[in-house]
Amino acid sequence: MPNDVKKILFVCLGNICRSPAAEGVLRHMAKAEGHEHELEIASNGLGDWHIGASPDMRMMTAAHSRGIILSSRAKQFTLDDFDKYDFILAADKEIHHQLLRAAKTAAHKSKIHLINDFSEIYKGQDVPDPYYQGDFGFELVLDMIEDSCKGLLKHLFKEKNKG
Ligand code: 4NP
Repeated sequence: MPNDVKKILFVCLGNICRSPAAEGVLRHMAKAEGHEHELEIASNGLGDWHIGASPDMRMMTAAHSRGIILSSRAKQFTLDDFDKYDFILAADKEIHHQLLRAAKTAAHKSKIHLINDFSEIYKGQDVPDPYYQGDFGFELVLDMIEDSCKGLLKHLFKEKNKG
């Protein structure tokens, strides 16, 4: 693995809806753009309720209809992740806040962003928890994540793409 691999971690609450969708979408887009060997992509959740579970069936179905296969198993965030990853992307402001509180150094804090910070359309907005919502909630999650991942790839590889 080349040593300039960038390590991206998406974090939500249960790791069965938003962050596995973001992991799948970014992997899909990175592959389509030829960046799959330059990224290590993962997701986990602050909660432990669903450890070991596949993503929510509604999330998998919505992603599948956009050509994206979600194959992760739920894991819980640990403090070691602050060292392991370069970008730690929170699904919403509450998760962002909890991660900032858990980070003990300025270097760790500087890795934490909102997923939608990289979106042109949804910048600054939460990716809303779809767990108790209808199908519309899952489509909105994907709309937001697709735009954010597009922006993230542009951010990560803009120097290489110049000229
Ligand atoms: P996620 O959605 O954080 O996007 O994975 C949730 C899934 C499950 C629960 C909460 C949020 N739950 O409370 O079980």
